[in-house]
Amino acid sequence: MAEVIDGKSVAEDVVRMVKALTAELVAKGKAKPGLAVVIVGEDPASQVYVASKSRTAKECGFHSLQHTLPAETSQEALLKLIAELNADPEINGILVQLPLPAHVDAGKIIQAIAPQKDVDGFHFINVGKLGTGELDTAFVPCTPAGSMLLIERVRGKDLSGLNAVVVGRSNIVGKPMANLLLAANCTVTIAHSRTKDLPALARTADILVAAVGRPEMIRGDWVRPGATVIDVGINRIPAPEKGEGKSRLVGDVAYAEAAKAAGAITPVPGGVGPMTIAMLMANTLASAYLAAG
Ligand code: GUN
Repeated sequence: MAEVIDGKSVAEDVVRMVKALTAELVAKGKAKPGLAVVIVGEDPASQVYVASKSRTAKECGFHSLQHTLPAETSQEALLKLIAELNADPEINGILVQLPLPAHVDAGKIIQAIAPQKDVDGFHFINVGKLGTGELDTAFVPCTPAGSMLLIERVRGKDLSGLNAVVVGRSNIVGKPMANLLLAANCTVTIAHSRTKDLPALARTADILVAAVGRPEMIRGDWVRPGATVIDVGINRIPAPEKGEGKSRLVGDVAYAEAAKAAGAITPVPGGVGPMTIAMLMANTLASAYLAAG
């Protein structure tokens, strides 16, 4: 049976480290790192994520600011808020929770965030730095960055020559994940809904990353024996209408089947999920260090 990769515990290590480094920064007389989280509308999943981000920021000793705006907030009002946060010296990181309501152009909002405060790593400048291997000064999107840390925990830092298959081509996870694996000298394939014979391709993977948002799509017989399986999916399966059953969270990987073949696998929940928030804290701390000079 596969090693279960304990993302919760690795995330706690990261948060502990961020907390210690924050205390060091403050002891030197520098300002504490500031994180502003902006949420528009009432998407329940987003509300849970945002509350958790703000709570962890406080736990790290950050100046933590949350702007909760009604769903009908205009694009202009949002752009004005971002301009204010860009100019606010107490704020080192700005995160606008996605998805945004349909009447707002999410691309415009993301590109309005100052690249040096873009702790999500979604601004073109940071995307471009990641794509060209300028990893020292890029903000890397939190979920792929956290996934990389988990992969390195299992396989060590040298991933050179390993076959990596990333299932999913989103800007938030699939593409940056592929770029990180490429920068680590893996042979990388990005698979998506039009890929032919995905099971056969998946079976070539030493590292298999699932980020498609389709519950339990990746089956046990798609997993190469000994592979490292990183499940980014978080899918809520509704409770059955009759009977005692509760709703439950599952990943994009059929866990019980895949765990029989994999060398190591992340569970859902408790795998990649906690890493996303931990890496957001790490990015905000890095931004504060850069601002403090
Ligand atoms: N919505 C889902 N994941 C993310 C994320 O990593 N950042 C932001 N801003 N919104 C998200």
